[in-house]
Amino acid sequence: MEKTNLLYEGKAKKIWETKDPDLLISEFKDDLTAFNGEKKSSEEGKGALNNKISTELFKLLNNKGIPTHFVEILDDNNMLHKRCEVILIEVIVRNIATGSLSKNLGIEDGKTLPFTLVEFDYKNDELGDPKLNDQHALILELVQYQDELDKIRRVAREINDILKPFFKTKGLNLVDFKLEFGYDKDRNIILIDEISPDNCRFWDINSGQKLDKDRFRQGLGGLKVAYEEVLNRILN
Ligand code: C5P
Repeated sequence: MEKTNLLYEGKAKKIWETKDPDLLISEFKDDLTAFNGEKKSSEEGKGALNNKISTELFKLLNNKGIPTHFVEILDDNNMLHKRCEVILIEVIVRNIATGSLSKNLGIEDGKTLPFTLVEFDYKNDELGDPKLNDQHALILELVQYQDELDKIRRVAREINDILKPFFKTKGLNLVDFKLEFGYDKDRNIILIDEISPDNCRFWDINSGQKLDKDRFRQGLGGLKVAYEEVLNRILN
């Protein structure tokens, strides 16, 4: 499958059209951004690692009955997937408090939450991705019906119920992660975007070491080695 027009360039991916109107190609970039684009860098090989990690996780979820946009991996940096209409909600799933949850609500960093928390952020860079409740999402017409928000929340929990024990067997705590959903051509809500250390937090169960984009956000170094470690653990 060949790329035709560049449809969109985001912070971490370029999205290309193909000759098939129902299929797009995501090209995973090496660029790194944090704090809504204020901190920028690049790490050679990061895009390919995220493409491979996302591929493995989409396959795992597809096999467990979670519909995703994934079709196939094309090469190091390119993934073929269904064209979907993006729902402008960032779905954040949290098992352990850290990041903005600890900062905003004063919950102790590293505290295991009494139950899995699912939050919605408005996917809007200009506004800095503010928190959303269901009424905000309906007023903004990000979806049409409350049912759709309920479904997104339910599927996000199902994904956590698959990924959390999977990563536990790999010696990693799945601390939190961000998901995106979209409508496919039949108007089904399916999982889109990527699942990678760019949008998940992974902590080594034994050492507590951070194996995700916090290495860049917090200036810890060793980002590529950490992403390689995540991929190796997924594959082994
Ligand atoms: O920063 P915060 O603690 O809210 O992030 C929660 C989770 O969502 C983290 O895993 C982070 O990588 C992810 N996230 C993301 N994109 C954003 C905001 C958060 O992937 N715009």
